[in-house]
Amino acid sequence: MSAATDRTREAKTILLENDRGTYTVPTEGLYPFQWNWDSLFAALGWAQFDLPRAWAEIHSLFDAQWPSGMVPHIVFWSDSSSYFPGPEIWRTGRNAPASSGISQPPVAATIVKLLSEMDHLPSLSLYRSIERWHQWWHRARDPEGRGIIAISHPWESGRDNLPDWDQPLSRIASSSNGHHQRRDLDHVNPDMRPLQADYDRYLALVDQAATVGWDDTVIAQQSPFWVADPGLSAVLLRAERDLIWLGTALGEPTDAAQIRVARLESGFEQFWNDKVGAYCSLDLRNGQHAEAGTSASFLAPYAGIVNHTEQLLNELEAWSQTCEFLVPSFDPRHPHFEPLRYWRGPVWCMVNYMISTGLNEIGATQWAERLRTDTAKLITKSGMPESFNPITGGPVGGQDFTWTAALWLAWASHQPCPM
Ligand code: GLC
Repeated sequence: MSAATDRTREAKTILLENDRGTYTVPTEGLYPFQWNWDSLFAALGWAQFDLPRAWAEIHSLFDAQWPSGMVPHIVFWSDSSSYFPGPEIWRTGRNAPASSGISQPPVAATIVKLLSEMDHLPSLSLYRSIERWHQWWHRARDPEGRGIIAISHPWESGRDNLPDWDQPLSRIASSSNGHHQRRDLDHVNPDMRPLQADYDRYLALVDQAATVGWDDTVIAQQSPFWVADPGLSAVLLRAERDLIWLGTALGEPTDAAQIRVARLESGFEQFWNDKVGAYCSLDLRNGQHAEAGTSASFLAPYAGIVNHTEQLLNELEAWSQTCEFLVPSFDPRHPHFEPLRYWRGPVWCMVNYMISTGLNEIGATQWAERLRTDTAKLITKSGMPESFNPITGGPVGGQDFTWTAALWLAWASHQPCPM
């Protein structure tokens, strides 16, 4: 049996073992609940061998949607003491089900479109739930209509401890919850996790938002952490285009989504940092760009943005001179790059998948294929951990990880075969 076939069996086993009936945990222990974008990538994995299960995954996530349209980043369907912070810290006032109070990059419309091409269109009610989620992003996280989407917490970006967040976080006094008991370090080597000082601030932000009752208007006006993220904006822009596709197929009006697309398209240039030559996050409290590119800088083509394609490909080439495996989560030439520490260096499969999809679409097919084969090599070499060391290819973070398994099944293992 070939190594690729073995990995395919392993990937299915990981999904089955992380399956909790209607949702899939990212990994046992470290992440014992439903996570938003993990679940959607899981659906893509399930779709390779069980389409009804894939749809169930998406429906269960939207069962936790808030009346505002927000879809939470964690849904606490059951109790578990292996994770912190739980519902008692989030204090959202919602119990059926309990959830966190922030969201995550909205990949739903994009994945639902892929499922529709493989199976059937979504129900009208699922489509409308996604539409309400998109409206929420614009209303709550871009209230000024600038066409760039802010995050109110580093976790909302899905890229928790990116160096981009260091400076904005530094204006937050360390937590009133300073004596919390982290659980992540029970599961994973501390060198691969965010630092304690970061955690204290993550908790302080949760506490502040809970204190104002998770009121979106107050958060937008007062949150000390309010940073526009090119990763989130690119994911939403693509998702809006895919929502239009779905709406058209379902015979629904799409005018509102078209207006949102136009706003995001023209807004995206605000991320361009000429000094760095990359799309960089923008601290909306002081107007400063982050000082280095990240893997999200390469998501512009995925969003259909092609203004700086040549510079972007040159940058990818430069990064490839430093790292054996693309795409590290942060500029590998920068002093803040750390190949093991979570979002400060490691390679993440689902980010590679999105970047590669965009590169394919703009005709940069060699780079697109390079990213796919790098991902396949990493999985062939190191199995299906949370992420990978871009220098050695070694495993980083939690083991038997759902989205790594899902992306192997849905993308990385496809022909031509990995070595
Ligand atoms: C971490 C990641 C986030 C992911 C979650 C569960 O918080 O940064 O992107 O959704 O773990 O895997």
